Amino acid sequence: MVVKVVATAYGGPEVLAVIDEEVGLPSPGEVLIDVRAAGTNPIDYKLYAGNMGSDPSQLPMPLGLEASGVVLAVGADAVGPMGEIHIGDEVIVYPARGTYAEQVIVPASAVVRKPANVTFEEAAGLLLTGATAVHALTATGVLAGDTLVIHGASGGVGLIAVQLAVAKGARVIATAGESSHAELRRLGAEPVVYGEGLADRIRDLAPDGVDAAIDAVGTDEALDVSLALLADRSRIATIAAGRRGLELGVKSLGVGPGSDPGAEIRAAARLELVRLVEEGAIEIRVASTYPLADAAAAHRELASGHTHGKIVLLP
Ligand SMILES: NC(=O)c1ccc[n+]([C@@H]2O[C@H](COP(=O)([O-])OP(=O)(O)OC[C@H]3O[C@@H](n4cnc5c(N)ncnc54)[C@H](OP(=O)(O)O)[C@@H]3O)[C@@H](O)[C@H]2O)c1
Repeated sequence: MVVKVVATAYGGPEVLAVIDEEVGLPSPGEVLIDVRAAGTNPIDYKLYAGNMGSDPSQLPMPLGLEASGVVLAVGADAVGPMGEIHIGDEVIVYPARGTYAEQVIVPASAVVRKPANVTFEEAAGLLLTGATAVHALTATGVLAGDTLVIHGASGGVGLIAVQLAVAKGARVIATAGESSHAELRRLGAEPVVYGEGLADRIRDLAPDGVDAAIDAVGTDEALDVSLALLADRSRIATIAAGRRGLELGVKSLGVGPGSDPGAEIRAAARLELVRLVEEGAIEIRVASTYPLADAAAAHRELASGHTHGKIVLLP
C-alpha cells in the first residue's frame, strides 16, 4: 500500500485526504515511479475548487500533474520520448495524473530524464511551468531584439518565461511585487511594480514601444495594459484569463473552451527544457517544500497567489 492525496469533494483545501492505495504493476506502455518530489500548480486546487466543473463522478480526485522520481518497474513496450526506460532511472514525469503519491503509474510518453545537476525538488517543478512558458513565447513569436512584457514574472511560469526570453536575446520588462525585483534583475529582466500607473512605468522604460506581452497572472490590469501598449493582439497571450482573452482577441493558451492547448509544442518543450537545465541555462526556484501529507497547507500557500517559485511536496 502507498500513501496518496486525493480530493474527496469539491471545495477548499479541507477536502483533501491522505489515503492508502494499492498501486499494482505497470501495464504495457506504462511505468511505475517511486515519487521523490511532486510539483504543485494552481490548476491542482482549481480542479477541486470547481472552477472547471463539479462532476461527482470525478471524486475522489487524484491530484498532481508532475513529479520527479526513480523508475521502479517498466511495462512491456514502455518507451519514452527520450528512448528506453530502465529500472533505477532518475526521471521527471509530465503530463501525468495523481502524482501527489508515494508511487504512481504513468504512461511512458510522460517520462523524461531528470537532469543530474538539479535536485529532485527542483526537477519536480520544471516541466508544467516550463512547457507553458515555451508555449507562451512561441505563440507570441518572441525573438532576439524584441521587447517583451511578462506580467506575473515572479511566479512559477513567470520566472521560467523570463529566463527563456532573456536566453533568446529579448529585452524583458517584468511585472512583480517589489520583493522579487532583485531576483528578476539577477535573471536579466527589468522589473516594475504592478498596479496603478503600470502602463506609464512601462512606457518610461520602453519609449519606443513593446513588441509582445505575456499575461501569467490573469488580472484585468495585465490584459488592459498589454492592449494599451501593443496594437498587434496576435502578440499578446494570456495563460490565466482565458475567457476574457478570447473576448479581446488575444491568444488564450492552455485548458478551457476555445483556448489553444499547444499539446505538441508543450510535449516537445520538455526535451528542450531538460537540455537547457543540463546546460545550466535555466534554473528552477523552489519557494517551499511540504511533506506530502501536508498538501492542504501547501495549497493554502499556493492559493495566496503570491508565491515566488515552486511549492513542492515530499512523500
Ligand atoms: N494556461 C496554462 O496552460 C497554465 C499553465 C500554468 C499556469 N497557469 C495559470 O497561470 C497563473 C500563474 O501560474 P503560476 O504557477 O506561475 O502561479 P504562481 O507561482 O502562484 O505565481 C503567481 C505570481 O503572480 C504574482 N502576482 C500576484 N498578483 C499580481 C498582479 N496583480 N500583477 C502581477 N503579478 C502578480 C505573484 O507575485 P507577487 O508576490 O510579486 O505579487 C506570484 O508570484 C495561474 O493562474 C495558473 O493557474 C496556466
